[in-house]
Amino acid sequence: MHVAMIGAGYVGLVSGACFADFGHVVTCVDRNAERIARLKSGEIPLFEPGLDRLVAANIREKRLDFTTELAAPVAQADAVFIAVGTPSRRGDGYADLSHVHAAAREIAAAVTGFTVVVTKSTVPVGTGDEVERIIREVRPDAEVAVVSNPEFLREGAAIQDFKHPDRIVIGTEDERARKVMEGLYRPLYLNQAPLLFTNRRTAELIKYAANAFLATKIAFINEIADLCEKVGGDVQQVARGIGLDNRIGGKFLHAGPGFGGSCLPKDAVALIKIAQDAEAPLRIVETVAAVNDVRKRGMARKVASALGGNLRGKSIAVLGLTFKPNTDDMREAPSIQLITALQDMGAKVRAYDPIGMAQAREMLTGIDFCDSPYSCAEGTDALVIVTEWEQFRALDFDRLKGVMKQAILVDLRNVYRPGEITGFAYHSIGRAEPRRP
Ligand SMILES: NC(=O)c1ccc[n+]([C@@H]2O[C@H](COP(=O)([O-])OP(=O)(O)OC[C@H]3O[C@@H](n4cnc5c(N)ncnc54)[C@H](O)[C@@H]3O)[C@@H](O)[C@H]2O)c1
Repeated sequence: MHVAMIGAGYVGLVSGACFADFGHVVTCVDRNAERIARLKSGEIPLFEPGLDRLVAANIREKRLDFTTELAAPVAQADAVFIAVGTPSRRGDGYADLSHVHAAAREIAAAVTGFTVVVTKSTVPVGTGDEVERIIREVRPDAEVAVVSNPEFLREGAAIQDFKHPDRIVIGTEDERARKVMEGLYRPLYLNQAPLLFTNRRTAELIKYAANAFLATKIAFINEIADLCEKVGGDVQQVARGIGLDNRIGGKFLHAGPGFGGSCLPKDAVALIKIAQDAEAPLRIVETVAAVNDVRKRGMARKVASALGGNLRGKSIAVLGLTFKPNTDDMREAPSIQLITALQDMGAKVRAYDPIGMAQAREMLTGIDFCDSPYSCAEGTDALVIVTEWEQFRALDFDRLKGVMKQAILVDLRNVYRPGEITGFAYHSIGRAEPRRP
């Protein structure tokens, strides 16, 4: 089958490369000329483990190509995927659909023959109807079926997730479109990945509901962590104790500095807006978003209290800047609000991230970027682990102690266990000693 993938970001590039690997002929289209030029020269413009090899192998097999020009690949395609960004609209939090609508217009002008237009971007309920309306307005003669096929991959494990999904959700009631989608996902289907067919609006809603639920689990365990700190519980054990219950499940129950990333925060807010407009407000999700927002900045107070309450003139080393390990994505990373709050409180910040430094430099000002955890720790009063990169799991604490002004570790990801690190004052999430009256 011929596939045109509009948008070559985290989702478009991974999906395009995986479809090519399934044996389809894929062209990734992006309006960002620099991104396409880098891809054409064999460079991957984002960090995703294994993607370089997958892309190179499929270019060699002549199943994967890149262009800024949408018309030719769309004209040839059996299926055109829209995988452009849907960020929060500035000011009100609604999903910004301008890229989706622009792509729909361009696709409409270029399609020939029966074509399935698939929305892979995360979009509000009813967006498929609007994409269809736009296409019919531009090209009343076009033979298209508009399908919703939301993506559930996680950055950092994106290829594995795409090739071994828990489920594939396909929103269409068009029989011909259903056949095309089954053909595209055939290798996964043969592998027993459940294909869930729904109507288009339901598919759109499934994606937002899934992300809101995951966000709720994180916000919930974070509040339980706060309670543990007050009453002397251990949140790691609470999470394990409830997570072993199959009805609850152990995933997404890691207490930390609050959820970030390119999806959970913006999708929660977008869903809240959809629900308010539909007069079916989602109070739980509203609370989750509010609680999470306050938490990220609140982590700076935790650092301050580890240092006796006052950060003026103090120097803080921050380890890990991306919103999670194994990605270079800085969107909505908890590190951003934490660092800004530390600076507001009068601290100097030094920072290190194994992969995300280039993106971080564009978003953060007034901090000293360092080239290793050890140079980052030099002369600092506290070390704060914000993102649990693998290389932070076995730090040389003797060496760190040797270069730091004070031996204080604030572990916002509970990478270490209390009492494990000798010679350091250790602070973590949800595992404090009980306060005795
Ligand atoms: N990143 C994730 O982990 C993830 C997971 C699941 C779903 N999603 C959803 O997938 C969508 C894409 O996310 P992403 O992280 O890949 O975004 P991204 O910002 O990394 O990539 C989007 C790309 O689309 C391009 N683009 C925008 N308008 C275009 C147009 N008209 N024609 C051609 N190219 C265009 C941009 O230049 C950019 O390269 C979003 O809706 C997101 O919510 C993301």
